Amino acid sequence: MCASCRPQTYATSWAWSSMADATPEAVQSPKQLGLAKAGLLGGGVIGGGWAARFLINGIDVQLFDPDPEAERKVDEMLANARRAWTALTDAPLPVQGSLIRAATPQEAAAGVQFVQESAPEDEQIKRSLLAAASEAAGPDVVFGSSTSGILPTLLQSDMTHPERLVVGHPFNPVYLLPLVEVCPGKNTSSESVTRAADIYRSLGMKPLVLQHEIEGFVADRLLEALWREALWLVNDGVATIEQIDDAIRYGAGLRWASMGTMLTYRIAGGEGGMRHFMAQFGPALQWPWSKLTDVPELTDQLLDRIEQQSDAQAAGADVRELERLRDDCLVGVLQGLRGRDYAAGAVLKQYETSLVQRGADASS
Ligand SMILES: NC(=O)c1ccc[n+]([C@@H]2O[C@H](COP(=O)([O-])OP(=O)(O)OC[C@H]3O[C@@H](n4cnc5c(N)ncnc54)[C@H](O)[C@@H]3O)[C@@H](O)[C@H]2O)c1
Repeated sequence: MCASCRPQTYATSWAWSSMADATPEAVQSPKQLGLAKAGLLGGGVIGGGWAARFLINGIDVQLFDPDPEAERKVDEMLANARRAWTALTDAPLPVQGSLIRAATPQEAAAGVQFVQESAPEDEQIKRSLLAAASEAAGPDVVFGSSTSGILPTLLQSDMTHPERLVVGHPFNPVYLLPLVEVCPGKNTSSESVTRAADIYRSLGMKPLVLQHEIEGFVADRLLEALWREALWLVNDGVATIEQIDDAIRYGAGLRWASMGTMLTYRIAGGEGGMRHFMAQFGPALQWPWSKLTDVPELTDQLLDRIEQQSDAQAAGADVRELERLRDDCLVGVLQGLRGRDYAAGAVLKQYETSLVQRGADASS
């Protein structure tokens, strides 16, 4: 989208300015943080997204992935990421970093200032990768793991200098969505948490630092509950997968992008606020409407039904086309929120301010 076609910023009312998110942390640049090169372990959906975010921020990437096709896939994802960023922002971006293929995890971690692990969700694979890479990295190099739910205490147990491992759990597409959950393990130092959060912030992200570890962290606990219920609705023939998506995207999903669940429900309580909302809808939790932790058996029949409905929903579009559609929609949402200087839009606006400052520093 050209800059002049972008949605206009509406006047900010007093209510919005008084409702701004908690004072945002200062955004330092990667250069200020001494970050010029990152090591990536795994370059699939998530590792490729991390590669794009680092490269677009001017950071060189050393990537280890045993898949011979990994570089092609990352290049394709990077092309989509650059397309999305061109539409997203007019702020001056640094010269793109270089993607370097590493033959081993040790090679990926040698000479870098940060490592992000995004290997398959398998504790043993991750532990041995982290053990190997941590031998080769300098002792002060912090490691982030993209795991969706494995406890960081388990992941750090075989590492050299385990105190530098945090979970840095991102969301797909990593190059557009700002959230990254930062979760320390029992042996993680507070300095590592601070360093990881500063680095993620320098890439335009919003680190959400958890106080202590729990499987699935915060976001995936919420998402899993929703997903499990969706599978039941398909299993029981109540709704197709397209109807399930419609139930979110025409309604609650629009609210979630700005206010999440809790603030939305406060408003749903009207003048009585949250207390009234709880009184009105709280009893339904006891009935309950949902199946809670019961899981439908993933029979061939259910998997076939899901696959067929999903193919029909995608209507022949391949994954890169779907990514572009998703990215265009996300860019629109992020720009709308930026106009309000609210939620993810506030993170984007602050990051753009820092990009402008970096550009000014570089040219002075
Ligand atoms: N897909 C998501 O939406 C999502 C979101 C957040 C976090 N995650 C987490 O990110 C991690 C990666 O997930 P993904 O979706 O990118 O999976 P993926 O299957 O797309 O990618 C995994 C990549 O790891 C590579 N790999 C396999 N063995 C390896 C090894 N020993 N060393 C290095 N690389 C190896 C594979 O070749 C592949 O390219 C998982 O821990 C997952 O839980 C996924």
